[in-house]
Amino acid sequence: MDVLEQIKDIKLVPVVTFKNIEEVAPTLDALLAGDVNCAEICFRTECAKDAIKLAINNYPNMLIGAGTVINKTQAIEAIELGVKFIVSPGFSEDVYLACFANNIPYLPGIVTPTEIMNAIDHGISVVKFFPAGVYGGLKAINALGAAFPQVKFMPTGGVDNNNLADFVANSKVWACGGSWLVKGNSEEIKNICLQARKIVKGE
Ligand code: 3PG
Repeated sequence: MDVLEQIKDIKLVPVVTFKNIEEVAPTLDALLAGDVNCAEICFRTECAKDAIKLAINNYPNMLIGAGTVINKTQAIEAIELGVKFIVSPGFSEDVYLACFANNIPYLPGIVTPTEIMNAIDHGISVVKFFPAGVYGGLKAINALGAAFPQVKFMPTGGVDNNNLADFVANSKVWACGGSWLVKGNSEEIKNICLQARKIVKGE
């Protein structure tokens, strides 16, 4: 299955920032125990590259992407390590070009119509709506989605199990991203994820 389709299918993209690589295995094991076979590992800490490498080597069946990718160097590093998708908080032409050249889905962050038009110009049809809670949440997604029916959104920032049902019920929402899925210890992560999976399946 196409990577974007897999993301749509899982509906959940955990945004993970590792402080050290010892956290990688327990966190990914907990996500898997919670039936969430995906992780966006952020380039926000020193160990990001090593964490991505470890994740890709040890969890070949997980959909591992890179997040907070803000420049060409990070994009190339992530692609060389074998990430399946790349997410940015905004749009970077350099990151886009690296992804395009390597056939890697790029989900840039947007909040305005102009940014969506730029994404469309680049052939992008799924964008990260970030920070969703701050920029109007579902109300904004509905308004933007009405103007741009060809675009789907991955709201991120302020999503949790309390508002997830409303987001995923909206046909303009491709998937939801966020760090709420990886908060707490392994048991807590597993339970939050199992609950989130129930919500996305409408159970
Ligand atoms: C991101 O970069 O995607 C956000 O930090 C995630 O936001 P959240 O922590 O509110 O989920």
